[in-house]
Amino acid sequence: MLLENKRVLITGAGRGIGRQTAIEMAKEGAVILGAGRRQAPLLEMAEQVQQLGGQSYIATMDIADYDMSKQAIDALAAEAGGIDILVHCAAIFEEAFFTDMTPEQWQRTISIDLNGAYNVIHSAIPYIIKAKGSVVSVVSQDAFYGCPGYSHYSASKAAVVGLTRTLARELGPSGVRLNCVAPGITETEMTRERIADGRESYLEKLPVGHIGQPEEIADAIVFLASEKASYITGQVIHANGGMYLG
Ligand SMILES: NC(=O)c1ccc[n+]([C@@H]2O[C@H](COP(=O)([O-])OP(=O)(O)OC[C@H]3O[C@@H](n4cnc5c(N)ncnc54)[C@H](O)[C@@H]3O)[C@@H](O)[C@H]2O)c1
Repeated sequence: MLLENKRVLITGAGRGIGRQTAIEMAKEGAVILGAGRRQAPLLEMAEQVQQLGGQSYIATMDIADYDMSKQAIDALAAEAGGIDILVHCAAIFEEAFFTDMTPEQWQRTISIDLNGAYNVIHSAIPYIIKAKGSVVSVVSQDAFYGCPGYSHYSASKAAVVGLTRTLARELGPSGVRLNCVAPGITETEMTRERIADGRESYLEKLPVGHIGQPEEIADAIVFLASEKASYITGQVIHANGGMYLG
C-alpha cells in the first residue's frame, strides 16, 4: 500500500474531490484526518472510511479563520499523534463578473481560497516538517486557462501555485515536498449545474471524451502525496482530460 499508516489531513473532506481522496487514501492504508465546514458530511466520509477498514478523525473549521483552523488542526494532530501529509482541497467557486464584482465578493473568495491556503498550510506545516512529509494543494485549470466570471477564484488558485513553488524551495531542505493538482471540469456538487447546462460543449473540448470524475483527480493526489513522487516538488499535475495543455 502506498500510504500505510500515513496520517493525512484533508480539508474539504466532506464531499466531492476531498471525500474521494479520503476514500482512495484509506484504501492505500492512510489514517484520515478530515476537516470541513459541516459535521454531517464529515461523519458520512468517516463511515465510508470505516467500511473500508480504515481509521479517521474529523474536525469542523472555517479555513478563512486562522485561529479556528490552527486549533482544529492541532486537535486532529494530537488525536492522531501527528500529520504526515496535507491535502488542501477546500475552496469556494462563486460566480461574479469582474465589472460587477463588489469588494465583498472579491474578499470572500480571497479569504477562503487564498488566505485559507495560508491558514491551513501554515498551521499544518510544523507537523509535516517533523514527519518529512508532503503537501498537495488542489488548484484549478482556471488559474492557467482563465474562466470568465471567476477572476477572484482564478487569481487565488494561481497564487496557491506561486505559494507552492516558493515553499518547495524553502522547505525542500527540511525534507518536505509540495505540489499542486489542477483539475479541469470534474463532476461534483460544485459544478453540477454548469455541467447540466453545458455537457456537450465540455465534451467537445475534452480529448479524453468524458467529464472528469473525482476518482481521477484523487488518483493524481495520491500519487503526488506518496513516496512514488519522491523526485517531484514544486510542480503542477494538470488532471483535466486535455482541455488545457499546460
Ligand atoms: N469540480 C471541479 O470541476 C473543479 C475544477 C477545478 C478545481 N476544483 C477544485 O477542487 C477542490 C474540490 O472541489 P469540489 O469540486 O470537490 O467541490 P465541493 O464544493 O464539492 O467541495 C469543496 C469543499 O470545500 C469545503 N469548504 C468550502 N469553504 C470552506 C471553508 N470556508 N472552510 C472549510 N471548508 C470549506 C466545502 O465544505 C466542501 O467540502 C476545490 O479546491 C476546487 O476549487 C474543482
